[in-house]
Amino acid sequence: MTRVLIDCDPGIDDALALALAASRLEIVGITTVGGNVDLSLTTANALALREFLDLGDVPVTPGAAGALMRKTVRAPHVHGDTGLGDVVLPPAVRPASQGHAADFIIETLAASPGEITLIAIGPLTNVALAVLREPRVVEWAKQLIIMGGSFTRGNHNPAAEFNILADPEAASIVFDAGWQVHMMGLDVTLTALVTSEVLDRMRGLGRLSDLLVPAAQYYGVISADGGPAIHDAVAVAYALDPTLVTSVPARVDVETKGAYTSGMTVTDFRVSQGNAQVATVLDVKRFWDLVIGAYEELARRLG
Ligand code: BDR
Ligand code: CA
Repeated sequence: MTRVLIDCDPGIDDALALALAASRLEIVGITTVGGNVDLSLTTANALALREFLDLGDVPVTPGAAGALMRKTVRAPHVHGDTGLGDVVLPPAVRPASQGHAADFIIETLAASPGEITLIAIGPLTNVALAVLREPRVVEWAKQLIIMGGSFTRGNHNPAAEFNILADPEAASIVFDAGWQVHMMGLDVTLTALVTSEVLDRMRGLGRLSDLLVPAAQYYGVISADGGPAIHDAVAVAYALDPTLVTSVPARVDVETKGAYTSGMTVTDFRVSQGNAQVATVLDVKRFWDLVIGAYEELARRLG
């Protein structure tokens, strides 16, 4: 089973992504970052999800509360004041781990070089801090997959996708670190829309439906970025089956100075070797078949 470390800011679609990972991946750790909502809330949500999804003693380690160099940007208008919209989970009983997410990322990758896929589905602050503190994480990670960026459009503003916009300097450090960033941007995530048919397939899955249905519905109602997309689940799905996505090598530079374009991922497909594999097309039918199949399996385990 593929082993993954998930850096996240739950976040409605982060929750749906964690549920997908819980079904079919071995999660070796969850790290949290301030993003959609404050770090205290993203961590509380990750802890509640760990228990709701029966993830046992998978460590949950908080990291950066805000961007490396910028004022904080949040998205409660998308994810609600708690970060989980209308989803109400029992508060976690067990606490977060001690230490910082960046150190957890370093230590975990160092302990199993070449074996663990890092999936980052929030602002890239923790991953950048890990790279700055220990550049060898780039060699130790089996692969880095992110949900973030776009080569066509933004969602937080016309130019920038939220995760990159929230910490462009961190994103720039991560793209320039020397690994191939597998970028699942808005170009593909906005094609994975929760249609009424998909929503129907999320019903009847026991207590898992208590998470899936209100999460997907809330995101559907509130999202102003072109539809009820569950962006972060695409990054996890890619770890499960990279053939779901067509991806193209590219050079991605993060705009950090533009008056109107900060956080834009400037993507150059003219190169044969770049710093990224950029997803261009998602096989939407196969994506939903995989996601719903995984949720059904998880539902049988959870009861
Ligand atoms: C990304 O931003 C967040 O609001 C979502 O959780 C996702 O990671 C989409 O732009
Ligand atoms: Ca997220």
